[in-house]
Amino acid sequence: MAASASPAVSGAAPALSVRRLRKSFGPVVAVDDVSLDAAPGEFLSLLGPSGCGKSTLLRMIAGLVEADGGQVVLAGEDITRVAVHRRNLGLVFQSYALFPHMTVFENVAFGLRRRGVGMPELAPRVERMLELVRLGPLGARPPRELSGGQQQRVALARALVTEPRVLLLDEPLSNLDALLRDEMRVELKRLQERLGTTMIFVTHDQAEALILSDRVVVMEAGRVEQIGRPRKRATKAVAGRRSGPPASSLPSMAAGSRSWPPPARIWYPASP
Ligand SMILES: Nc1ncnc2c1ncn2[C@@H]1O[C@H](COP(=O)(O)OP(=O)(O)O)[C@@H](O)[C@H]1O
Ligand SMILES: [Mg+2]
Repeated sequence: MAASASPAVSGAAPALSVRRLRKSFGPVVAVDDVSLDAAPGEFLSLLGPSGCGKSTLLRMIAGLVEADGGQVVLAGEDITRVAVHRRNLGLVFQSYALFPHMTVFENVAFGLRRRGVGMPELAPRVERMLELVRLGPLGARPPRELSGGQQQRVALARALVTEPRVLLLDEPLSNLDALLRDEMRVELKRLQERLGTTMIFVTHDQAEALILSDRVVVMEAGRVEQIGRPRKRATKAVAGRRSGPPASSLPSMAAGSRSWPPPARIWYPASP
């Protein structure tokens, strides 16, 4: 299959396009000629096993890793050579990377202050964002007094408060225990629908990708293997005959000419 995808919403110009991106580390080809588009407001997952190049691809989009070749185009503008902090992208990592010496409020305010937003505008924006991630009353606390889930919400609020065109998330839920992870998935989806932010979400967890995404990009060894939409396909009759979770909660995927699930060699367990 060609390593490219068209926008989910036909006719809409892509919010983000990646064109033939490449990156090697010595002999290791981490990202090998990857092209894809994300439509405005789309939730796009990069799914694949550890080491397949997901983080490297995301970090090139962010500007944290310099590409060997190819282009990153944001809303029609080539940003391949634009510095990280000028890309107007939000970033959320697995490690929350909060500033430990700052309060929750100040963590969220950071990006706005750096853009020179003054207090009269800044305070309501930070407070609205804290409300959105349900941390309204906790603004005065230092991060160490928050649970893991709460810290990850601060990281989300911090990334979203500047209203980035695209939010990049690298396995943001992996450090949370199972219960919190489920909660945060719902939260993340709610935020995305509320704010309409385009999201590129890296995960090695197939179930997570299928639950959250408008489309899933399956990666293997630095390349795009498949791009498709999750789709509920199994009927109740089929669900009844299966063991394990009901099939109606196991989305399948419709993907161009290729069938979903993908071939067994890229069909791996959901979690380590
Ligand atoms: N800074 C680096 N230096 C050397 N090799 C790296 C570096 N970053 C990533 N790699 C290698 O590139 C490949 C892809 O890594 P990565 O993008 O982190 O994969 P993933 O996020 O899918 O687990 C791996 O083989 C990894 O070891
Ligand atoms: Mg990674």
